[in-house]
Amino acid sequence: MVGATATAAATRTDEPVLATVTFTVNGQRRELELDTRTSLLDAAREHLHLTGSKKGCDHGQCGACTMIVDGRRINACLTLAIMHQGAEITTIEGLGQPDHLHPMQAAFVKHDGYQCGYCTPGQICSGVAVLEEIKAGIPSHVTADLEATPQVTEAEIRERMSGNICRCGAYSNIVEAMTEVAGARA
Ligand code: FES
Ligand code: FES
Repeated sequence: MVGATATAAATRTDEPVLATVTFTVNGQRRELELDTRTSLLDAAREHLHLTGSKKGCDHGQCGACTMIVDGRRINACLTLAIMHQGAEITTIEGLGQPDHLHPMQAAFVKHDGYQCGYCTPGQICSGVAVLEEIKAGIPSHVTADLEATPQVTEAEIRERMSGNICRCGAYSNIVEAMTEVAGARA
């Protein structure tokens, strides 16, 4: 009898807890019924079929899953979808389309900022957010003068992009692409 009770309890514990999650993804309001353990990355890839954001490590170590959430870049594999009720989320699909590229996407093409392309959606989302961080005056580990507005230098870009790993080693071309976009915007 005790065993049966324990089994029933274990079964209940194993059942997923579902919740309704509502947010705006690439300008569209989306409502999902999700297991509360679903990461934001899995919600996008498996439930919304937005597969541009990549699952590289699923441990917050590669940046392939980077999205922009409420204006800040985030490793979507490390955060639960339910933590972003009401958020404005932009994935690579929302930045631009093949016939209407975002300036950062166009610059990556022009400067050959990729090889296999697996890290590229995360690099581009991160790159867009990094230029906004610098513009907003947010210092990084390599900013020498914390009182002055940070500049878009190679050192700043490399430091801020260090969470986005590129196994193909396209780093110098990515720096060139970001520098061009920053210059065009200045
Ligand atoms: Fe998210 Fe690697 S898949 S950081
Ligand atoms: Fe291949 Fe970056 S382009 S991992």
